[in-house]
Amino acid sequence: MTRPQKQTKQIHLAAHFPGVNNTTVWSDPRAGSHIEFSSFVHFARTAERAKFDFLFLAEGLRLREQGGHIYDLDVVGRPDTFTVLAALAAVTDRIGLTGTINSTFNEPYEVARQFATLDHLSGGRSAWNVVTSWDAFTGENFRRGGFLPQEERYSRAKEFLATAHELFDSWRGDEIVADQTGGTFLGDPEAGAFAHHGEHFDIHGRFNVPRSPQGRPVIFQAGDSEEGREFAAAEADAIFSRHGTLEAGQAFYRDVKSRLPKYGRRPEDLLILPAATFALADTDAEAEELAREVRRRQVSGATALRHLEFVWNRDLSAYDPDGPLPDIDPDVDSDHLARGRAQVRMYRDPLATAREWRELAEANNWSIRDLVIHTGNRQNFVGSPSTIAKTLNEYVQADASDGFILVPHLTPGGLDEFADKVVPLLQEEGVFRTDYEGTTLRDHLGLRSPVTAVQP
Ligand SMILES: Cc1cc2nc3c(=O)[nH]c(=O)nc-3n(C[C@H](O)[C@H](O)[C@H](O)COP(=O)(O)O)c2cc1C
Repeated sequence: MTRPQKQTKQIHLAAHFPGVNNTTVWSDPRAGSHIEFSSFVHFARTAERAKFDFLFLAEGLRLREQGGHIYDLDVVGRPDTFTVLAALAAVTDRIGLTGTINSTFNEPYEVARQFATLDHLSGGRSAWNVVTSWDAFTGENFRRGGFLPQEERYSRAKEFLATAHELFDSWRGDEIVADQTGGTFLGDPEAGAFAHHGEHFDIHGRFNVPRSPQGRPVIFQAGDSEEGREFAAAEADAIFSRHGTLEAGQAFYRDVKSRLPKYGRRPEDLLILPAATFALADTDAEAEELAREVRRRQVSGATALRHLEFVWNRDLSAYDPDGPLPDIDPDVDSDHLARGRAQVRMYRDPLATAREWRELAEANNWSIRDLVIHTGNRQNFVGSPSTIAKTLNEYVQADASDGFILVPHLTPGGLDEFADKVVPLLQEEGVFRTDYEGTTLRDHLGLRSPVTAVQP
């Protein structure tokens, strides 16, 4: 007996506009503004020309800083998500518009209005990446430093999202009725009425944005903890993950998709879309060279020291980034540098990490900067257009993901070559659309409408 053939999957692709990061290679003469609207337009139009599913904005509610200094490669600023996406809605037709909005420092009524409005303005292209960052460092901007304990971040996020859904659903969509003169009137006096009484939110009133084209925005999730994964399995349409290699991607994919049945959901109801960087050149050898060069330029001496400070939990500004690693041990007794920040908490055993890094540096004769370059993430895809197209497709067909959110190292032109050279190869292979088939982001992602999702 032959086993049924696994169906070839269609790849989903998205474009991540870099924000507060050290991914961008600023020293490249082609690097442009991260603030000026023309950069967003160039980036969004390239992604739309390539028939990508959506454009993605991460969110940094506070510029990264340590010891009173903003990171040397972070001084790009971070314009407001909704304003940027609304402006982009006006200069694009089909591409989805995904914004990362925090459920700790915001309020459901306001966020629901903003997403419903964006969905109207864009004709059904909005998506919300629900993140829970709660750290005291960010909270200082809101006079709410550390107001929410870490263990409550997902309980608030769940209730936040449920409340937003109540608001979106407070309009059915048929309440506004035309009269004989061509005017409109409200056919249902109850339209928009809501009342939510819960642990985190106790609100009632009338939601003032009528039902939007998608009914609800597409929901993304990005946290990686056990609770974060459960939240995604129960509530999200897609996950923005950091597991972009083949093995880590497959493990994450299996883990999260296996959580779906207990919520009555099918594997295709939740898409896994890791962030992916790439180095693309005419030949594989040139791409390898480019990859090395880009990684070197992404880690300045100052960036290397800040990175090391996450592990050492100490001010290391007196050290020479081109010299050896500090011989003092990390400070494991205080929380002064971390203040809840995820980047710092990533290193669960700083003493062991420091020991391992010192050994690596000594064995290879690496400076601090060399070490950070070598232990930092390598580009996910490196090669000629055909190598990248082939590898990317293999990852998706091997269930390491359902597609990728591409993070180029140049803004705004970093997607141009990918759009012109890699996308056509994926299209020839029959694994990526040659044109949009629908008008909404749900259409592009192959997701059911939320009405069917709540009332099967
Ligand atoms: C791939 C990825 C991307 C994220 N992007 C953002 C972001 O743009 N803004 C933000 O405030 N938090 C972001 N986060 C943080 C998480 O959403 C979450 O707030 C934090 O990781 C705590 O949740 P966790 O413990 O489940 O990971 C991101 C996390 C991951 C894994």
